[in-house]
Amino acid sequence: MAKKLYIETVGCQMNLLDSELVVAALRKDGYELVDTPGKADAILFNTCSVRQHAEDKIYSALGRLKHAKRQHPHKIIGVLGCMAQKDQELIFQRAPFVDLVVGPGQLHQVPQLLRELQVARAPRLEVSLDRAAGSRSAVEQSFESYDPLREAQMRPSPYQAYVRIMIGCDKFCTYCIVPKVRGPEQSRPPHEIEAEVRRLADEGCREVTLLGQTVNSYHFTVGERVWRLADLLGRLSDVAGIDRLKFVTNYPKDMTDDLLAAVRDLPKCSHYLHVPAQSGSNTVLKRMKRGYSVEEYREMLSRIRGTIPGAAVTSDFIVGFCGETDDDFALTMELVRESRFKNSFIFKYSPRPGTKGDELFADDVPEEVKRRRNNELLALQNEISFEDQQALVGRTFEVLVEGLSKMAARGAGHFHTEGASDAVQSTSGESESPATTDMAIKPPAANAGDLMQLTGRTMCDRITVFDAPRRLIGQLVEVSIFDATPFTLLGSVVTREAGPTVYQLAMPVR
Ligand code: 5AD
Ligand code: SF4
Repeated sequence: MAKKLYIETVGCQMNLLDSELVVAALRKDGYELVDTPGKADAILFNTCSVRQHAEDKIYSALGRLKHAKRQHPHKIIGVLGCMAQKDQELIFQRAPFVDLVVGPGQLHQVPQLLRELQVARAPRLEVSLDRAAGSRSAVEQSFESYDPLREAQMRPSPYQAYVRIMIGCDKFCTYCIVPKVRGPEQSRPPHEIEAEVRRLADEGCREVTLLGQTVNSYHFTVGERVWRLADLLGRLSDVAGIDRLKFVTNYPKDMTDDLLAAVRDLPKCSHYLHVPAQSGSNTVLKRMKRGYSVEEYREMLSRIRGTIPGAAVTSDFIVGFCGETDDDFALTMELVRESRFKNSFIFKYSPRPGTKGDELFADDVPEEVKRRRNNELLALQNEISFEDQQALVGRTFEVLVEGLSKMAARGAGHFHTEGASDAVQSTSGESESPATTDMAIKPPAANAGDLMQLTGRTMCDRITVFDAPRRLIGQLVEVSIFDATPFTLLGSVVTREAGPTVYQLAMPVR
């Protein structure tokens, strides 16, 4: 009988990709996925360390398994990902029934470790070297990029896929744990990336999102030539079958003119750019060690707007970072007011042990001030998002149909704004942005033949909901927009009547 696997994932797109790949590898070993821990032989958590809240969630989920593990000691419980790398032995101390702790640079070991655990139970810890524990190359080698062969069925949609182009980060923003838990920045060779994209296209994938913590810092030297993200986008544009290319997350300082020109000139590149600003105050940016001033960020934004008119730009902000005053926060509000981001992910600062920020500065902004700033910034951004989306009513966009809307997938009931929760997931999985309102937008089509409520995204990554036949899933369709909420466009598919074909009889020309 097949062994059963339950996996829970928190965090960013990188984690979603890692989970997809771990599941695919374990399926080859005879595991099948189940939807509750109760049914599983192996329970895995793929974890995030970016904020305390993400870690608390995992420790309480582990706490809930204590009893189950006592009753069913054969169940394997594993903690994977960033929190595994950060906490290491501490996980066994806090949850002694955990069998397996594997960092993000060691995921290739998971199938073998599970096999070994079935034979002999002893806690297993597989993590990469700490950044100070050896030479740069020794540390790099201990963080292995995990890119095994893909399986289309393992993705939420076979038409879309994440592809890792680099791992790690060397920027060391003072608040951020990522350079520690995901290791040094390392780019993958372009030919490997292209081969993966070609295989995905052969399997029917139409949209690829390139992933990196600072994806636009990509560089790989082959002989004399240095490959940058712009070059890679050009190369991947030639892959037949792929219609759309996206990339996240960008680092403002590496938003070079050649990259913007590539996005403008390559028809397959999505005009969607996620470029986190983090703060609108130079004092705070300096303390964060972001490496740019707010003037430089503004200049970059105006280059984006000048080169790619209509581009959808999104951002991240941290409110309540150490020492942030009301005046600093007012500058962040000002930046958001004038920048017209498509949306922003807003986070309350969470001190991370092991970061420079935690070591050097006091977490001195009270929780209620963080909360108030978070809500204020969010309200402003939502207002802007709503105005921006409203301005699109009456226009027609090409939409890649992803699948049933959440509403249609649930069956019926009242409608919650579609994009809100999608948007929150898309960056951090636990943005403090409320998943907005219960705004009722439109019930799915009832008694409308085989029409279903479907969802997809425009080239600028705007979530769009419309009624259409299910067979359009995976297709590019024209959708005309008749209404909008801050996160969702509502539209109807533009049908072009083919009409009867007229054949003309003509005398053959001699
Ligand atoms: N506290 C709050 N937010 C953080 N982020 C990263 N580290 C922290 C932290 N310690 C946010 C940044 C980043 C996003 C993925 O998470 O805004 O862009
Ligand atoms: Fe963290 Fe800064 Fe690297 Fe982004 S660029 S992953 S915020 S250290």
